[in-house]
Amino acid sequence: MFHPIPDAILARMRELEERDGRDRTDGTPRPARLRQIPPETGKFLAILAASSPAGAMIEIGTSAGYSALWLTLACQATGRSLTTFEVLSEKVALARETFAASGVEDVVTLIAGDARQHLAAFDRIGFCFLDAEKEVYADYYEAVVPRLVNGGLLVADNATSHREDLQPILDRALADPRVDALIVPIGKGELVCRKRNWE
Ligand SMILES: C[S@@+](CC[C@H](N)C(=O)[O-])C[C@H]1O[C@@H](n2cnc3c(N)ncnc32)[C@H](O)[C@@H]1O
Repeated sequence: MFHPIPDAILARMRELEERDGRDRTDGTPRPARLRQIPPETGKFLAILAASSPAGAMIEIGTSAGYSALWLTLACQATGRSLTTFEVLSEKVALARETFAASGVEDVVTLIAGDARQHLAAFDRIGFCFLDAEKEVYADYYEAVVPRLVNGGLLVADNATSHREDLQPILDRALADPRVDALIVPIGKGELVCRKRNWE
């Protein structure tokens, strides 16, 4: 379904992978680092997003648009579109470059600003990827789960890399009667929650 990845997307993915790798070793300060998911997580997200039910496809935490590029492959495979949120203006500019260079502007809407101020506009979410600051994952979890359609997916990154920080929200999700949830040990660990038939 995702092969071959179009040349323009693949070329930008490679550029961003190289830059992300450099960021991690050359002393780039944290706010300027791309802090991307690894490629295998990208493919995992694309498969899940393409399999998710009808409803909005959203991402919280765009950075330079690397994970969003993987999600655009799901959009192209299913005729859907992605809305992605980024709060830092430098990252917004990089993501805009990414989407223009990759030729995916027709399937991505980038919203500059704090996603918390925009989520109320989404009342039927089919797929959400959460990859922002760990301190606010709990807020996002509580905001997104009621807005998922039945069968909708919430996937949150860093479930194993930041397990201690995220333990309260991981425990909450794993015991939440509204979702079936598990932690998938791929990349930095993905918390995958599927909304049960609810209401
Ligand atoms: C780990 S990075 C995202 C990496 C990206 N998902 C990828 O794999 O290519 C987290 C990003 O979330 C952004 N962010 C943090 N809090 C946010 C918020 N409340 N709303 C929107 N973006 C936010 C940060 O500025 C940062 O660029």
